[in-house]
Amino acid sequence: MRTIVSSLLLIVLMITAVTVTAAEITPERQAELIYLLRQDCGSCHGMRLSGGLGPALLPERLRLWEVNQLAATILQGRPGTPMPPWRPFLTQQEAVWLATQLKQGIQP
Ligand code: HEC
Repeated sequence: MRTIVSSLLLIVLMITAVTVTAAEITPERQAELIYLLRQDCGSCHGMRLSGGLGPALLPERLRLWEVNQLAATILQGRPGTPMPPWRPFLTQQEAVWLATQLKQGIQP
């Protein structure tokens, strides 16, 4: 009995571990993030991300930054500038995904 219970527990643990490591941004959430990029980020960075109140978010300019630095800027904002923190709306993983898209040159 005891072994059955612990084997079951082990299986549950293994399944949880797999889902956590395989956690990816679903296509639906990706579409929402692109929408956010166009509507919210675009309001300052320009509809084509070529700059406005905020600087252009195009690959040539972002070349200078690592993905993690860009993700940190997205999550924390730039205090003292109009760039707001997006932490309430985005996870670390989503910010990294957005930063990667921007560096690759996404056209929202
Ligand atoms: C209210 C206006 C505003 C909004 C909305 C906004 N930003 Fe910004 N953002 C700025 C400004 C202004 C800067 C430049 C800050 C500075 O002077 O360093 C900036 C800087 C950045 C930078 C650093 C770029 C660089 O080369 O220094 C990134 C990356 C960035 N924003 C991404 C985003 C993303 C992604 C979104 C949407 C989730 C977003 N921003 C929404 C105003 C905004």
